[in-house]
Amino acid sequence: MKRNKIVVLTGAGISAESGLQTFRGEDGLWEGYRIEEVATPEAWRNDPIRVQRFYNERRKKCIEAQPNAAHRALVQLEEYADVQIVTQNIDDLHERAGSSNILHLHGEIRKSQSSLDSTMTFPIEGDELKMGETCTFGSQLRPNVVWFGEPVPNMGRAIRLTKDADFLFVIGTSLQVYPAANLVYEIPRGCNLVVVDPSIPHIEPNGNPIKIVKEKAAIALPAMVSHFAKHHTF
Ligand code: APR
Repeated sequence: MKRNKIVVLTGAGISAESGLQTFRGEDGLWEGYRIEEVATPEAWRNDPIRVQRFYNERRKKCIEAQPNAAHRALVQLEEYADVQIVTQNIDDLHERAGSSNILHLHGEIRKSQSSLDSTMTFPIEGDELKMGETCTFGSQLRPNVVWFGEPVPNMGRAIRLTKDADFLFVIGTSLQVYPAANLVYEIPRGCNLVVVDPSIPHIEPNGNPIKIVKEKAAIALPAMVSHFAKHHTF
């Protein structure tokens, strides 16, 4: 039997039950910080110490967090389908849960990158990237994060994967940040949309079948994967 191709677009909501803050909503990260001060190239130029401190604090929380039942359910789904995670998250919870195919759109908080070449990335030992650290080629290191206003290098690959999907899962994202949110409109005709979120973001299904699951991911996904194992649909 042909294995379904399932692309899973995840956002901060899938890590919420691991104790990591989402960005928008009552206690969202952007309630406590101004994006212009911590998540843009200008912020890095103007006050790199504040930016570094922001990501060092988030990195500590990411290291302390554990994958939750939603991350684990997506690993189990690999027994029954070809699963490709496309995540907006910079935490490494999908990796630590054991997912095999993960594409990060917005970078990885456990890595740094050369300030001169974003494709040159390096693992960060421990939880702190110190100011002034340089890479083996001598350029200053910065967090491996795609800041607002910067290009999303993996977007082309994400679109190619989505165009070939039988299912597109949209889990824990408000779909308010582009170009990531555009993936929903790259699906082929007939591709099944499955949205898992306690408060559903606005999506135009454009004639594609859509299943809405108004529930927390760690609650809904294990049962959905068990159902798929038996019926090869959600
Ligand atoms: N299970 C599933 N979804 C949840 C849960 C949960 N337990 N808790 C919250 N959510 C949902 C919220 O309802 C919301 O729709 O997760 C979504 C989180 O939305 P955002 O906070 O906007 O996060 P995200 O969509 O990932 O943000 C995208 O914005 O700031 C940038 O680069 C940052 O990657 C991030 C991007």
